[in-house]
Amino acid sequence: MSALLSNYSLRSHNTFGFAVHAHYAQFIDSEAQLLAALADPRTVGLPRLILGGGSNVVLTRDFEGVAWLMALSGRRLVGEDEHAWFVEAGAGENWHEFVQWSLGQGWSGLENLALIPGKVGAAPIQNIGAYGLEISERLASVRVIELATGKALILDAKACQFGYRDSFFKQHGRDRFVIISVTFRLPKVWQPRYVYAALADELAKQRIEAPVPQDIFAAVVAVRRAKLPDPAHIGNAGSFFKNPVVEAAHFKALIAREPKLVAYPQADQRVKLAAGWLIEQSGWKGRTLGQAGVHAKQALVLINRGGATGAEILTLATAIQDDVEKRFGVRLEPEPVIVR
Ligand code: EPU
Repeated sequence: MSALLSNYSLRSHNTFGFAVHAHYAQFIDSEAQLLAALADPRTVGLPRLILGGGSNVVLTRDFEGVAWLMALSGRRLVGEDEHAWFVEAGAGENWHEFVQWSLGQGWSGLENLALIPGKVGAAPIQNIGAYGLEISERLASVRVIELATGKALILDAKACQFGYRDSFFKQHGRDRFVIISVTFRLPKVWQPRYVYAALADELAKQRIEAPVPQDIFAAVVAVRRAKLPDPAHIGNAGSFFKNPVVEAAHFKALIAREPKLVAYPQADQRVKLAAGWLIEQSGWKGRTLGQAGVHAKQALVLINRGGATGAEILTLATAIQDDVEKRFGVRLEPEPVIVR
């Protein structure tokens, strides 16, 4: 069994870089080790915190339980059919490296999701998405361990109940499972996807008319680098809020008053609003509150300007939520998991 670490700093295990400690921490690098940890008498009954890359979490204080640092590795082709390659990756694999590796093997289909921070095991939890693609479209199945029983289960995409930045693992399945590995279904007939304006503009700028997967990958990397802060240098958790969805009537009233409102009609008649735009219009882009700040190039991203605490980020988030609500009548919902 891997060592049980005491009073362990989680600073390098959360992309905000908050300097909090876990009472205990343990690296989990195999399924057997996870089962051993589940039964470990030293930690049984303690609160658990399961950390992948820590790229979608706000740690507000020291954690008085055991943090499991997911390190399960391995990536391989597990099958194929007429339409697709089936490729499996361990939960602890770095997401971006996995995307890059799969492309290199000739298995395309994840290129729009390049450079998203975090690990493979976290991808299905919030149904990561960017530039017109969500992981739900490429996921074949997820292997999980049920915490209560130690039993292994395979969930298919339907069982994952994916929604926008949402899944079974954030709803009924919350705190009940640990993801061990994810199997992706990558199409044999590849089609580029670049309807998303920023991506199309980048390809046009590079004068690419018939992109191959590597072109999309490179363009996504360029667009992300231009707008989103690299957590290795500036602590952040990507978009801090979800783009809110409002009723048609609400949208009509808003657009009458705010003709430049950025909005995306949904299949169910409701309308998704660009939270970054709402925040910018509320005057928060580039502003700071203590050591917490709003990124100057993308208002949806909150940043740690150095030495901020999770509590400071939450104070800033609340101030933003209040101002946006006052002006637009919609309360933004945080996207990362908040550990209080
Ligand atoms: N906008 C502003 N001001 C800002 C930011 C955005 O006016 O400060 C406007 C933009 O001009 C654009 C619209 O809002 O018209 C949308 O902005 P952008 O294309 O940057 O995307 P987003 O909606 O802010 C979402 C995801 C990102 C993902 C991008 C690209 C969410 C919560 N965020 O951001 O995901 O990379 O689209 O697909 O859905 C993440 O989840 O951590 C994340 C970074």
